[in-house]
Amino acid sequence: MTDTDKSMTEIDKSMKSYLQEISTLKYIFFGGKGGVGKTVMAGATALWYARQGRRTLLASTNPVHSLSGLLSQDVFGRPTPVSGAPNLFAYEIDTRETISRSKQEIRDKIQWFLKFADLRTKADEFVDSATMNPAFEESAMFENMIDLMFRDEYEVYVFDTAPTANARRLLGMSKVYSLWVNKMMKSRQEARSLREMLSFSKKKEPDPLMDYLTGFRDRMEHARLLLTDSARTSFFFVTLPEALPIAVITRFVDWFHEFGIPVGGVIVNMMIDRSTITDGAAEFVQSRARMQEEHMRTIREKFSGQVRAILPLLETEVRGLPMLSRTADLLFAD
Ligand SMILES: Nc1ncnc2c1ncn2[C@@H]1O[C@H](COP(=O)(O)OP(=O)(O)OP(=O)(O)O)[C@@H](O)[C@H]1O
Ligand SMILES: [Mg+2]
Repeated sequence: MTDTDKSMTEIDKSMKSYLQEISTLKYIFFGGKGGVGKTVMAGATALWYARQGRRTLLASTNPVHSLSGLLSQDVFGRPTPVSGAPNLFAYEIDTRETISRSKQEIRDKIQWFLKFADLRTKADEFVDSATMNPAFEESAMFENMIDLMFRDEYEVYVFDTAPTANARRLLGMSKVYSLWVNKMMKSRQEARSLREMLSFSKKKEPDPLMDYLTGFRDRMEHARLLLTDSARTSFFFVTLPEALPIAVITRFVDWFHEFGIPVGGVIVNMMIDRSTITDGAAEFVQSRARMQEEHMRTIREKFSGQVRAILPLLETEVRGLPMLSRTADLLFAD
């Protein structure tokens, strides 16, 4: 084996040993640039857990129909048992439904607020300004993901394409959120006691806004605890041996370290198998393989100790359970 061959095949700690060592893991996430194989890796990991006899949910918050395609089975809109894979359930979250539900919740809150403040303004204007921005969709999906985690109906959750920016924002903002919510709660409490003092009735008034603020603060704190607990949560980053996907995960890994979100490691996908390249191979193939080797060097430098698997570029795309099962064997090789 030459040095280059060795640097390409050597894995610091395999995906399998890593997941076996942290047997308490419950929430597994995959992130990375578009099209690098996040859905495939999430599917293969969920299948592996299910094979260990763990009741596993593979969930996607991705707006495109990714899981149904991967499994060649309709899993849209509700957690669905995957046929041919005992213990495995898959769930493609209905983005449109989630978003319209979130909009309705916001509308209700704004209406409470306007009523409390004795304002006669219509809620619609406020609702539109709160929901007509791209971050709102991501937030709605993030809330949905958290709900799923809190319901706790599975032993293992594998999330395809975590709303990464949101996880980061949530954690970065959690201190600010708490400060803000606590401040809001304090001033509401003061306003209430004043009102109660001035009122003749000793009856306690209901306060939906206060209840909402308390609930929101508790949910955020609970989510933060789960997402930063390295015994339960792990984020994996998928990359290709190419410059842009590497740049993307470098940024993610840095962010995540900064916010204390546990990073499980890096998976390199679509590596051209050098043993299949003969001397007579097309120059195109040879030069791509050389390029991949170069980038592999960068990956090993940047993510030393964190590379969990290197998967070959397969002869077709990964679709259907037999092909997914083969991919799981590659991802969880010893
Ligand atoms: N090792 C591989 N060999 C061959 N094809 C692969 C391999 N890994 C993934 N693919 C294929 O590459 C395509 C992209 O993979 P996948 O959908 O998992 O990426 P993704 O990161 O989830 O993309 P998106 O960002 O669009 O959600 C799919 O058609 C998949 O079947
Ligand atoms: Mg995907």
